[in-house]
Amino acid sequence: MYKKKMQEKLDKLKADDKLTILAIETSCDETAVAIIKGKKVLSNVISSQIDIHKRYGGVVPEIASRNHASAIKNVVQMALDEAKISLEKIDMIAVTYGSGLVGALLVGVSFAKGLSYAINKPLVPINHIRGHIAANYLQYDNVEFPCVVAIVSGGHTVLGIASSYTDLKIVGESIDDACGECIDKVSRVLGLGYPGGPNLEKLAQKGKINIKFPIAKIEDNFYAFSFSGLKTSAINYINNNKKKKGFKKEDVAASFQAAVFEPIIDKAIQLAVKNNIKEIFLSGGVSANKYLRELMTKEAKQHNIKINFPDVKLSTDNALMCALEARCLVKDKKARAAGFDLDAIAYLDVDNIYDTCNN
Ligand code: KG4
Ligand code: ZN
Repeated sequence: MYKKKMQEKLDKLKADDKLTILAIETSCDETAVAIIKGKKVLSNVISSQIDIHKRYGGVVPEIASRNHASAIKNVVQMALDEAKISLEKIDMIAVTYGSGLVGALLVGVSFAKGLSYAINKPLVPINHIRGHIAANYLQYDNVEFPCVVAIVSGGHTVLGIASSYTDLKIVGESIDDACGECIDKVSRVLGLGYPGGPNLEKLAQKGKINIKFPIAKIEDNFYAFSFSGLKTSAINYINNNKKKKGFKKEDVAASFQAAVFEPIIDKAIQLAVKNNIKEIFLSGGVSANKYLRELMTKEAKQHNIKINFPDVKLSTDNALMCALEARCLVKDKKARAAGFDLDAIAYLDVDNIYDTCNN
C-alpha cells in the first residue's frame, strides 16, 4: 500500500527544471549527499573516511559502517545548508542500495527510508555503477545514442553499449579482479598506501615504461577483461627485484599503469569502431587518472572517436552521480519507489537494476 502510494507520487514527477532530488551514497568509505534542482547542482557534499582507513592499508568494512552512521545526519544537514533549501522542497530521495559493502550501504538505505517516510516523498533505489555512468550526463547533455560506456572503478571494469540514458547492454566485464582493485593491491606492495590509484599516478609520472607486464586475452570474449594475472606478475616482479641494484619503483609504476590501461583503451575503442559509434563515455574512480584520459583521448582521435569523462571530482564516489541517475530514471519513466523492505545488495548486475530493486 505504502509503496503503491509512493509510486503514484513518483509517476507524477517530471524531469523538468524544478525537480529537486536529494541523493545519499554510502557504498564504501565516502558518506556523500547531493542535491540537484533540474540539472543545477545545489550541493555535493563528500565526507571521506580515507584518513581513517589509510592506517589499515584499505577499507575496514565495520569501521566504514560505524563512521557512516555517525556522519550521515550531519552530511545531510550540510547538503541542505549548502543548497539553501529545507526538506519540504525535496521532491524525491535517491539512495545507493548496491553494489558495495553491505554494512555501509545499509546505513544510507536505512537513513533514506526514514527520511522518505518523514517527509512523505518517494525513495528511489540506485545502482552505484549506473550512477558512475550518469555522472557523465551532467556536462554532456543531448547525448547521441548509441554510445560506448566504459566504467573503471575499484569494484568494476565494464564495457557496454548504451542505447538511451537508462538502457545499457553489457558487452564485457572483468572475469576476476576489477582494474581499480588490481591497482590498489600493486600500489600497496609498492608501499604507496591507500588508496593506491592517485599515488601510483603521481609516481608513474616520474618513471619510464620499460618493463613488459602480461596483458591477458580472453578466448571467448574479446571485450572481457582479466587483471589477476597482471596483478600477480607485478607483485612477483616487485618482490623479486626490489633489493636489486637499479630497481626503480617509478618505472614499475609507469609500466604497470600502462599495462592496466592498454586493454581498457584498446577494447573500448574497438567496440566503438566495430559498431560505428563516435563517442565513448568513460567513468568510475580509475577514470580520474590523467594519463588514462590523455592517452585514450589521443588514441580515440585517430579513429575519429571522442572520449567524454566527468569532472575528476565526479569520477570517484559521490552522491551527485546518484541524483543524476535518479533524474535519468524519472525522465525515462523507469523510476521505482522503494518500500520499507528495500535491502542493500553486495553485488548488483549492471544491466539488471529494475528487477532487483523491485523488492
Ligand atoms: O569509483 P570508485 O571511487 O569506487 C568504487 O566504486 O570502487 O573507484 C575507486 C578506485 C580505487 O581503486 C582507486 O585507487 C582508483 O579508483 N583511483 C584511481 C585514481 N583515483 C582513484 N586509479 C588511478 N588513478 C587515479 N588518479
Ligand atoms: Zn564507485
